[in-house]
Amino acid sequence: MVRSAILTLAGTLFATQVVAQDAVPTPARSAQLVRMVRQDCGSCHGMRLTGGLGPSLAREALAGKNTEYLAAVITHGIPGTPMPPWSAMLSPSEAQWVAEQLLRGFPEEHRNSAP
Ligand code: HEC
Repeated sequence: MVRSAILTLAGTLFATQVVAQDAVPTPARSAQLVRMVRQDCGSCHGMRLTGGLGPSLAREALAGKNTEYLAAVITHGIPGTPMPPWSAMLSPSEAQWVAEQLLRGFPEEHRNSAP
């Protein structure tokens, strides 16, 4: 009895740690983040994120850059340029998630109301 309870607890702790490490937001929060990036970041980086006032954030344009760099730019902005810091809007793990998605090719926004 006690032994299986301990195993269950260990399993739960392990699962929690895996989620925290991978920095995966809930499906609802990822949908919000996708909308935010497409709209707020898109206002400078272009509706298709292929560049505007800010440079292209397309996968090809970011080739050779890493998640840590992109997450840091997103969190802190680039002082002296129009690129603002997003630390008030995005947790560190969310900034990392956005950076990972950009490197993979950012997902399209899914509108639930779409026919
Ligand atoms: C007010 C305009 C503006 C907004 C809004 C904005 N950016 Fe930027 N961003 C810029 C500009 C301008 C640069 C280039 C700065 C420079 O280096 O001259 C930049 C640079 C970047 C870079 C570095 C690109 C590279 O190739 O090194 C990343 C990554 C980035 N932005 C991501 C984002 C994300 C993600 C968002 C939304 C959460 C966002 N930006 C919102 C203006 C903006």
